[in-house]
Amino acid sequence: MNVQGKHVLITGGAGFIGSHLVEEYLANEAGKVVVYDDFSTGTMENLNEIRDKRLEIVKGSVLDVATLNDALKKEKINIIDHLAAELEVYTGIKDTEKDAHINILGTLNILNIALKNKVEKVLFASSGAVYGEAKYLPIDEEHPLEPHWPYGVSKLSAERYVIQYHKLFGLNTTAFRYGIVYGPREWFGRVLTMFIKRVFLENKPPVVFGEGMQTRDFVYVKDIVRAHMLAIKKPEATGKVFNLGSGKGISIKELATMLLKMANKELDIIYDNPQEGSASRFQPERIRLQGELKNFVLDCRKAQKVLGWSPQTDFTDGLAKEIEWILKFPRRWSGKPRV
Ligand SMILES: NC(=O)c1ccc[n+]([C@@H]2O[C@H](COP(=O)([O-])OP(=O)(O)OC[C@H]3O[C@@H](n4cnc5c(N)ncnc54)[C@H](O)[C@@H]3O)[C@@H](O)[C@H]2O)c1
Repeated sequence: MNVQGKHVLITGGAGFIGSHLVEEYLANEAGKVVVYDDFSTGTMENLNEIRDKRLEIVKGSVLDVATLNDALKKEKINIIDHLAAELEVYTGIKDTEKDAHINILGTLNILNIALKNKVEKVLFASSGAVYGEAKYLPIDEEHPLEPHWPYGVSKLSAERYVIQYHKLFGLNTTAFRYGIVYGPREWFGRVLTMFIKRVFLENKPPVVFGEGMQTRDFVYVKDIVRAHMLAIKKPEATGKVFNLGSGKGISIKELATMLLKMANKELDIIYDNPQEGSASRFQPERIRLQGELKNFVLDCRKAQKVLGWSPQTDFTDGLAKEIEWILKFPRRWSGKPRV
């Protein structure tokens, strides 16, 4: 299917990744692009720079079926890209019901509404959190699914519905398991943003937990949205789940060192070892995640084979773009970190 002229509804379109998807659909000559968002974490600021008459914004929750129905009735929507989610791992741990409601029932609402309205394509943002601790590296799509957090459980459940709606009802669906997505407009809370803020905005050294040997897979946001476009174009993507990462692991220590080098600052990394669930002595707003993963690196060969996708952004170049953005808008990371 070609994106050209298609009307798209993006749930979570006012968020970090969603706002890049808005730009990507507009650049690919979509018809109307409807952002459907409750603005719980998303902001109008994320969409500020987009000046395009094809963009429409509807404030509503994916749990609110009546408002969703209205949004779909206004336009004949051809594509739904579903990103709205409760993605704060700690919220998921503290309030499993809220996490399940938004992530599972919210997704079911999207699938049912898509079926009812004969939507031609539904894309879903799942997460690499569905795997849990790596039993081998890199993690391919056949890896056991043993999520560490309720967030991973709800994403996995939603993702299974997304695929089942294809098998049972013939809905054209594709799901993606993202690595750690970074780039301009990233929200403040995760390790990369904490490091950038300390090094570039506060002139303080990054605080590394343990020895910093944990590995992570960072993927640039523009690479992610390109995969969405390919999945729409390629019929072979239907009913499938794809990992989207860089395929390369970087240790947290390496990440800290790399940022210090980019900043050209001679600051000594601080090593701290708080218990899981406790705050750092050196950076009290930073809590060590319960169920912290040792290694997280995705194998993305399936996406390469089926979609012809591979990440194209060099990590240093992507980081430079994110740093340039936050130096321009430091206020964006002035609040408390999201955890
Ligand atoms: N950022 C990552 O590294 C990453 C990794 C894996 C998966 N994901 C997935 O990608 C998607 C987007 O994540 P993001 O990083 O852009 O986060 P984000 O918080 O910036 O975006 C989420 C958006 O969904 C909206 N939203 C939340 N609950 C809603 C509801 N009930 N109804 C309507 N809108 C609602 C928020 O206001 C926000 O605009 C999520 O589904 C997330 O689980 C993100």
